[in-house]
Amino acid sequence: MRNPIIVALDVPGLDAALLLVERLTPVVGAFKVGKELFVSVGPEIVRRIRAAGAPVFLDLKFHDIPNTVAQAVAAATRLDVQMLTVHACGGSAMLQAAERSAHETAAQLGRPAPLVLGVTVLTSLDSNALNEIGCEANVGHQVERLANLAVKSGLRGLVCSPLEIAALRQNLPEHVQLVTPGIRGPDDATDDQKRTLNAREAIAAGANWLVIGRPICAAPNPRAAAERILESLA
Ligand code: C5P
Repeated sequence: MRNPIIVALDVPGLDAALLLVERLTPVVGAFKVGKELFVSVGPEIVRRIRAAGAPVFLDLKFHDIPNTVAQAVAAATRLDVQMLTVHACGGSAMLQAAERSAHETAAQLGRPAPLVLGVTVLTSLDSNALNEIGCEANVGHQVERLANLAVKSGLRGLVCSPLEIAALRQNLPEHVQLVTPGIRGPDDATDDQKRTLNAREAIAAGANWLVIGRPICAAPNPRAAAERILESLA
């Protein structure tokens, strides 16, 4: 099995990110670049991770009119990212445009298309927050609804919380890849994560990829922390 650990590079600067990339590339499956790092240092971080030989998950959660999202996905594909995120609540036309753009741009470059991942309901939103914006107030129902919309629109993957994996696995086609943050071991600080599973439990429940930030990056020895998590999956 390929290495399912995606390290979240939630650091503000290029140097701090590159130090982690250098130490962790041999023992992890990919690196996640999110809004803070990308807005701080720009596409250079993606080029540097790719030059180090590791796959990149660009987590910018695109949500806009279909043409704008398609152009952003094309630009990310040209940057050679392997995974990227869009908000499923952007609707079917936006989701289809994102997926089409990933395939068409990759085909022009002679590369595999990046995996376009749908984000359903942010884990920071509860039923009151959903009600406030005029959505189905039952979080589980809204997750299921957006997951189905994303898959019907052609997306091949979703981001989901650990506690959503099992329900989504029951309802979705087997080929859909599930990417899960909120991973904590028994000795890790939970930080601000409220609903967690450990790495082994998340994979057993049906996750394909685990997004892990602080348990690795804030450890005294990040490489040893990543190796321990990998061993727990063996
Ligand atoms: O440090 P930690 O392991 O909590 O990092 C998890 C990463 O996954 C962070 O980059 C966080 O933004 C992201 N994430 C999350 N929960 C979500 C979606 C993304 O923790 N629902």
